[in-house]
Amino acid sequence: MSWKPHQSLEETKDFVKGRIDAWNRGDDFTWAVTKRDGSLIGGIGLRIREREFKAELGYLIGRPYWGRGYATEALRAVVQWALQQAQVFRVWAVCDVENAASARVLEKCGFEKEGLLRKWNVHPQVSNTPRDCLCYSIVRESTSQPSGATDVLPRTADR
Ligand SMILES: CC(C)(COP(=O)(O)OP(=O)(O)OC[C@H]1O[C@@H](n2cnc3c(N)ncnc32)[C@H](O)[C@@H]1OP(=O)(O)O)[C@@H](O)C(=O)NCCC(=O)NCCS
Repeated sequence: MSWKPHQSLEETKDFVKGRIDAWNRGDDFTWAVTKRDGSLIGGIGLRIREREFKAELGYLIGRPYWGRGYATEALRAVVQWALQQAQVFRVWAVCDVENAASARVLEKCGFEKEGLLRKWNVHPQVSNTPRDCLCYSIVRESTSQPSGATDVLPRTADR
């Protein structure tokens, strides 16, 4: 991740508020990942750049829940939604070169590896200097307008 685990409840509250504000601005969406009983196990973020026709993903699952397919299931749903938006032709994500689990999740979701971005992101859990990252994407062709596509993104209330 590009941030460290929160040190206080206040920090988490600020984070959640920031995510809600971003959602309301209409181009940066964060979903909580929950189990069927409603308990929180992770999150997924999708930042849409409409003018650039692309959307970037970030995600995490709580350590006790790793290895059960939760990230893959949640990512597939968000990617499917993203590619149904008329403005989105490319969904992409990066992961640390040593984050094999994340790379595997992206591959299971149909992403293709595009290459290595050298010294791309700081991952403070690992080091305080930028790390090499793998870049993955999934795209649709201009001619393949997805069913249910809209000319404009659905209003916030519809999402
Ligand atoms: C990366 C992360 C989201 C994966 O979540 P998850 O719910 O465990 O993912 P899934 O269970 O859907 O899939 C994990 C896959 O990675 C594989 N995997 C796990 N550790 C691995 C390793 N060290 N080497 C290779 N593959 C590994 C699992 O075997 C599984 O693949 P499989 O189904 O073919 O067996 C989770 O580990 C996480 O939140 N990590 C910390 C935050 C993070 O790294 N976020 C991504 C930033 S790019």
